[in-house]
Amino acid sequence: MKTSNYFTAPIYYVNDSPHIGHVFSTLLADIGARTALLEGHEKFLLTGTDEHSAKVIESAQARGMPVEAWAQRNADAFRQTFKYFNIDFDDFIRTSEPRHESSVRARIEQLMATGDVYLGEYSGWYDAGQEEYVSEAKAKQYDFKSPFNKKPLVQRTEKNYFFRLSRYQDVLLALLENGEFKIHPASRTAEVVARVRDGLSDIPISRHSSESWGITVPGNASHVVYVWVDALFNYLTVIDTDERRHLWPATLQVVGKDILWFHAVIWPAMLLALKQIEGNQWLELPRNILAHGFWIREGEKMSKSMGNFVGISDLQRYCNDFGVDGTRFFLASAGPVGASDADFAHTRFIESYNANLANTVGNCFNRVVGMINLYFEGVVPPKAANTTSFAEEILQLSLSTREKGRAFQYDKMIASALSIFRSIDQYVNLTEPYILIKQPENLEQVGNILHDCLEALRQGALALWPVMPTSMAELLQSLGCLTEGELPSYDFGRPVTGGYRIKETRVMFPRYQEAQ
Ligand code: ME8
Ligand code: MG
Repeated sequence: MKTSNYFTAPIYYVNDSPHIGHVFSTLLADIGARTALLEGHEKFLLTGTDEHSAKVIESAQARGMPVEAWAQRNADAFRQTFKYFNIDFDDFIRTSEPRHESSVRARIEQLMATGDVYLGEYSGWYDAGQEEYVSEAKAKQYDFKSPFNKKPLVQRTEKNYFFRLSRYQDVLLALLENGEFKIHPASRTAEVVARVRDGLSDIPISRHSSESWGITVPGNASHVVYVWVDALFNYLTVIDTDERRHLWPATLQVVGKDILWFHAVIWPAMLLALKQIEGNQWLELPRNILAHGFWIREGEKMSKSMGNFVGISDLQRYCNDFGVDGTRFFLASAGPVGASDADFAHTRFIESYNANLANTVGNCFNRVVGMINLYFEGVVPPKAANTTSFAEEILQLSLSTREKGRAFQYDKMIASALSIFRSIDQYVNLTEPYILIKQPENLEQVGNILHDCLEALRQGALALWPVMPTSMAELLQSLGCLTEGELPSYDFGRPVTGGYRIKETRVMFPRYQEAQ
């Protein structure tokens, strides 16, 4: 059955330009959405920018620019970057848009009506860099410094509106423990459960502000909504229309490990609070959250003070040499998809490209098509009716690749897809069509072998399409299994057919030799 699938990436602060981390999270969401397409479903992909942060005001002031212009410039940079990386987003939200402001105000009003938002006073620690309140216990544990940028935590006392988070502790625990609300990888669930068990206190969700930048609290224009609460609602703003409401609940929300708490605790608690209100029954919890690890660079943590972020221009240099697809492949296959961090090291990139794309995917394709060109003048040989054990093996590999995709394990999905190409190589080595062909009576047998190899190549190309959409579509088109503009599909795709003349392609993934 065709279902609608809503994938979200975080929305990013516009205090600075995008970097590898932002590309990575959004890429994972794109791969998820494309995997759903391949499974025959509809997909909707959202990303965007988080603009009402104090950091945005400060960074605009530091440049002597109006905050609107600075936000606009960076929002454009994020949008361009995601386009450059061939991320197929269906909407791009900026939290400074009117549609978002009215959506947030309406939701806060609803929460005020149920008593889930109330006026109170906050006094305690605040991590200004993260724009995050920190409990006394946590502050002590962190030695009163931000665990993120090591700057001292600051004391804050203010009258604010609070969200009654404490009310949702038990419900949330139950949903996490019975698996209705899933956090991936599983080790992260355990982490969140342990922290929720420690107890949830109500949290401030507004701050007193004279700035006009931000969304004011309904009924109290001297308060703006806390940037995190403002930001989380973006996921609803975009789909809260008659045409899109069916997209909720989200299939997968991709986030970095640094913002898991907001997505695994505060966000679902707000949804639980809203869901009690008449007309809001559709506001279920998202089905899945994926909290990935962090990129480091050449073994070092990336930071502003170190000035060692892998920036977009760095990534574009890799795209020039290895293609956007080659770069997407490295990020998704060697990146921090699971709980662990991963190193963006130049040698790792080259090794991965040569081993996986040049020597495995590219070589396999060139080798099989090369033999068809030599022995069959580039025309796909017909296939005898019987299914070989090789075809059966490929089917199994394809099925397990699909399973990894449905479990949101995109690095494992890629590893499994690569095994399809490795099996093809092994099968060629084992059956030796290049030796068999020396006896004219073996022509039909060689035809069968190569036909099976082509069909296996098609399976491999489908499996890698979400990661490398341009080159895998090109590969499928050359085999006559996809027409231009058509979406590839696991179950309704066109198998290779005898008699089809294979189209020439550029050399796929040539081996890379470092300049001396
Ligand atoms: O936190 N490795 O925005 P942000 C991998 N606006 N991913 C990384 C990374 C790294 N080294 N550094 C950053 C915010 N990221 C809020 C989010 S959502 C409602 C609001 C990625 O601009 C990762 O996804 O600081 C992380 O969660 C996000 O960028 C933080 O981006
Ligand atoms: Mg951040």
